[in-house]
Amino acid sequence: MGAISGRDQPMSEEMIDATLADSFPASDPPSWTLGRDTFQEKEPAAATIKTSKTNSQERSMMKPNIALSQEQCEGVVKILNLLLSDEYLLYTKTRNYHWNVTGPQFNDLHKFFEEQYTELNEVVDAVAERARSLGGWAFGTLKEFSQHARLSEHPDQYPSARQMIANLLADHETIVRQLRIDLEAAEKHHDMGTNDFLTGLMEKHEKMAWMLRAFLQGESV
Ligand SMILES: [Fe+2]
Repeated sequence: MGAISGRDQPMSEEMIDATLADSFPASDPPSWTLGRDTFQEKEPAAATIKTSKTNSQERSMMKPNIALSQEQCEGVVKILNLLLSDEYLLYTKTRNYHWNVTGPQFNDLHKFFEEQYTELNEVVDAVAERARSLGGWAFGTLKEFSQHARLSEHPDQYPSARQMIANLLADHETIVRQLRIDLEAAEKHHDMGTNDFLTGLMEKHEKMAWMLRAFLQGESV
């Protein structure tokens, strides 16, 4: 087919059909439309059996075979999704403070909050992917995060820089305390991988909390 002329003009139905027929001749149908139908017409029974067997194999491959029962995996995924909700809320709160902080230490705090929300962004990703590694779904909507988070948000409030730091510190410490409980729960489920993962996460939060505390101890804000 030659170059499409008159691109500014709307194409009629006939012109669209002709263009598609030229691009995908009937003898070589595109896989995204006719390929499956053509394949099933040739060998309907065999194709059906093959598809069913493949699906069954795929299903068993989708379940992690990692010496943890489905019940154990589900128990840990539940813990991880609650944690994910808290982490996402704290990420958002830290980002909010990065935008809205004011005062003589604006520049320092603006950058400091950015460092912390960047680290929290990585934490959020790691927690969600840990849930997926265990065969579960990760929460991925703001509705789920706000429904399940145990930390609180304070819309329409723009606290002082010092209060912002205190709020973040309290949230990090709350997560650390919760992580100690979650660690024991993961151990009860015999999930040592998650146990190790949560221990590393706890150390990250303890370090971020220390940095926030150091700002307050100097009473410079
Ligand atoms: Fe920014």
